Amino acid sequence: MRKNFLVFGSPLIEQPEIDEVVASMKSGWLGTGPKVHKFEEMFREYKGSKFAIALNSCTAALHLSMVAIGIKPGDEVIVPTMTFAATANAVIHAGGIPVFADCEKDTMNISPEDIARKITSKTKAILPVHFAGRSCDMDAIVDIAKKHHLKIVEDCAHAIETEYHGEKIGTFGDLGCFSFYVTKNIVTGEGGMAITDNEEYANQIRTLGLHGMSKNAWKRFSDQGYKHYQVVYAGFKFNMMDLQAAIGIHQLPRIDKYWKRRQEIWNRYNEAFKNLPMFTPAPVEPNSRHAYHLYTLLLDIDNSKITRDEFLDEMTKRNIGVGVHYIALHLHPYYQETFNYKRGDFPNAEWISDRTLSVPLSPKLTDEDVKHVIEAVREIIG
Ligand SMILES: Cc1ncc(COP(=O)(O)O)c(C=O)c1O
Repeated sequence: MRKNFLVFGSPLIEQPEIDEVVASMKSGWLGTGPKVHKFEEMFREYKGSKFAIALNSCTAALHLSMVAIGIKPGDEVIVPTMTFAATANAVIHAGGIPVFADCEKDTMNISPEDIARKITSKTKAILPVHFAGRSCDMDAIVDIAKKHHLKIVEDCAHAIETEYHGEKIGTFGDLGCFSFYVTKNIVTGEGGMAITDNEEYANQIRTLGLHGMSKNAWKRFSDQGYKHYQVVYAGFKFNMMDLQAAIGIHQLPRIDKYWKRRQEIWNRYNEAFKNLPMFTPAPVEPNSRHAYHLYTLLLDIDNSKITRDEFLDEMTKRNIGVGVHYIALHLHPYYQETFNYKRGDFPNAEWISDRTLSVPLSPKLTDEDVKHVIEAVREIIG
């Protein structure tokens, strides 16, 4: 058994970002500054969008995107129940109501058929999540949005590298929101980005993210002399720091190298787990790129002597960190108590919630680490 604990989602941090963070500390300019601007430009170019606004999280990007598209109290936004809380909470913080839709059992992505069923006269937007790095069916979602005059904000927290039919994900909707949280495909510690081709949304998000102060307020203490600002909204404190961007500007150029390593691990897992009483991830769709963010196994609990939670404990005992992505939102008390959801409402998401577990998938994993993960899974279930 391995001696040290293999932390789930531990990022690969290399020397150039360590040096860059130290340089920022020594320069004294820790907050939003030239490194944030550089990271935004790099990301904008990577995605081919007109605008990119760096924020302190994807949660902040989702929240401000909801505000930018004009979500008001009582407006409904269709959200998958199979997602992280931040997706739905962003709608709530903007004053809207998250209306859950079920997912597809194989892709785990939001079901376009269920989106169509959930549309009412109050629906204003769809918030698809590209689950685990696999693109949603954007042709179907864009068609529904056009037909019903709805906005689309894409939750791309898992999906930095994802492409759908040759196009980069995050560029199908009105806005795309990305995460650089420690477990994500590239990291800044905490951090997020909103991308859009709409200048009005971009300006609004930039201003709302820094107290509602007018454009370029972050420059007010620069060597160009003190600049007055005007407060034009009751904004938020969601700006990214140079300390964070210092990491991102070195991680982004390595994105394909890290992706290739995760793809290698993904293929090794597929091969190693194919004959076990578990379901491995659905094959990658043709003409699309999976970001390989999460490797989720579904335990065949009907044909297994062990429950999913016992499986998680057994992995931990073997010093392998694991995750659960996710217990569907409608099974959590807050959403049940506030919006009257109950078990039984979304059968596919429940089926996944009861069986899913994620094993480590990080470019930091050595071949030896991967071997340990495979051995542990086989030992427990084999
Ligand atoms: C699907 C999804 N959306 C949004 C977020 C929020 O990202 P952040 O932690 O950058 O706020 C996460 C974070 O894990 C996520 O998994």
